[in-house]
Amino acid sequence: MVCLGNICRSPMAEAILRHKIQKLNINAEVDSCGFEAFHIGDSPDPRAQETLLKHGIPVGNIRSRLFKTSDFDNFDYIYVMDANNFADVSLMARNAADMQKVDFIRNIVHPRKNMEVSDPYYGGQEGFEKVFNELDEATEKICSILQA
Ligand code: 4NP
Repeated sequence: MVCLGNICRSPMAEAILRHKIQKLNINAEVDSCGFEAFHIGDSPDPRAQETLLKHGIPVGNIRSRLFKTSDFDNFDYIYVMDANNFADVSLMARNAADMQKVDFIRNIVHPRKNMEVSDPYYGGQEGFEKVFNELDEATEKICSILQA
């Protein structure tokens, strides 16, 4: 799960998907990262944490880190939140096989539409609720694909 700061959208995606795969006993590893160094080592934004807890999702021990080339080797799927993240990841792809792993997370639900999970950082709590709903929908579909 990839966003910019790795303190709002992608850690929410990580926490929601991890919670679901654990409940469903799916054997998969989930992680998240970003491209902006400012928040390295930080826990998710308090508004992200509050939104997760409100929906009964444990936040866990998530700390912001940067995307690295080895993520292409260590993960089968690389889901980005918006077009900037897509461009950032694309610039680090070494080959077509790397690129094949990358997609907009909402394309799981809305194929090829490249719809974004908008950055909620500069807005209010309602932005985080919208992010939660979009990620809840997408991760539900990811679980059904992993179970198929
Ligand atoms: P995120 O939101 O990409 O969803 O984690 C952001 C958080 C912090 C910043 C940008 C986006 N920032 O520039 O500090």
